[in-house]
Amino acid sequence: MKATANAGSNIAFVKYWGVRRGERRGLVPLNPSVSMTLEKARTTTTVEFLPGLKQDVCKINNRPAPPDAVARVHRVMSRVRRLARLKAFARIESVNHFPTSAGIASSASGFAALALAAARAAGLTEDPKHLVPLTILGSGSACRSLYGGYVLWSPPGKGRAPSRVRQLAPEGHWPLVDLVAILSREQKRVPSEQGHLLARTSPLLEGRLQSLGKIVSKIRKAIRERDLSALGEWIEADALCMHAVMMTSRPSLLYWKPATLAVIEAVRDLRDRKGIPCYFTIDAGPNVHVITLPDQAAAVTRVLKRVEGVEEVLHCPTGRGPSIDEEPLF
Ligand code: PMV
Repeated sequence: MKATANAGSNIAFVKYWGVRRGERRGLVPLNPSVSMTLEKARTTTTVEFLPGLKQDVCKINNRPAPPDAVARVHRVMSRVRRLARLKAFARIESVNHFPTSAGIASSASGFAALALAAARAAGLTEDPKHLVPLTILGSGSACRSLYGGYVLWSPPGKGRAPSRVRQLAPEGHWPLVDLVAILSREQKRVPSEQGHLLARTSPLLEGRLQSLGKIVSKIRKAIRERDLSALGEWIEADALCMHAVMMTSRPSLLYWKPATLAVIEAVRDLRDRKGIPCYFTIDAGPNVHVITLPDQAAAVTRVLKRVEGVEEVLHCPTGRGPSIDEEPLF
């Protein structure tokens, strides 16, 4: 009744932004998304079902988890209990092995590790297909961290089929590096869970949804052919398009800081003047993820570190999928 698992975070090349309301099948994304799983940015989680507990008890990085995280963990654990016909609550401890305390999303790695550890502890199947509905009860993007390498998450089709997640290519197919320029470690003011509900208020949402079919197939082709300039062109286009939707929703979500633009400028400059292949993408926050080749990472990092407002640059290579650990956290 006790198990430990670890999983990597992921960076979306095609962003998931917006959910359908009022669905009985759980969270339903408005659009397909494509991501790369990240090595190093990993979370380890231990789950133990203990008959004496009166509720799930959860710690993150050796501290009691904040209330919103506890609520999401509880949603996942309640589903696990229902599937495994268990009554016992669980002790859950999670540690993020990120080079810094914050700055990149730990919810994706955290909920992928939780789903696998809880499934193993409860004796449920560990097939990632069956873990998808568990992870998205915690965080949508976590379902993409159930696989290594390059991953596609498609919304459910018509009828009752659930979301589908599958690996497009393993990590060894194309080693890339995500250099994360950390501009702020503050918690974002509007968490993505709330932001997804605002997407529909943007007049630009329809345009984005209509253009995504083409962008997804361009990005899949670029991954298949290991074509960084094609990949980069489309990931930048989609990140800007998602932020245009965020900025024009009501209320408006503006996650950028002045240094976000300064990093974008530095990336364009590296490409245009120095011929270094590197491309930016930005999640629901001010930090900029710069995708490049492993042998260019040192040169790109040097330039990013000199941009005013950049506190640190994290080096995250393409990563493997989740796995079970023998060493528990408690
Ligand atoms: O999984 P969530 O609810 O944290 O949403 C993730 C949203 C983005 O990071 C902005 C995009 C993505 O696809 O990861």
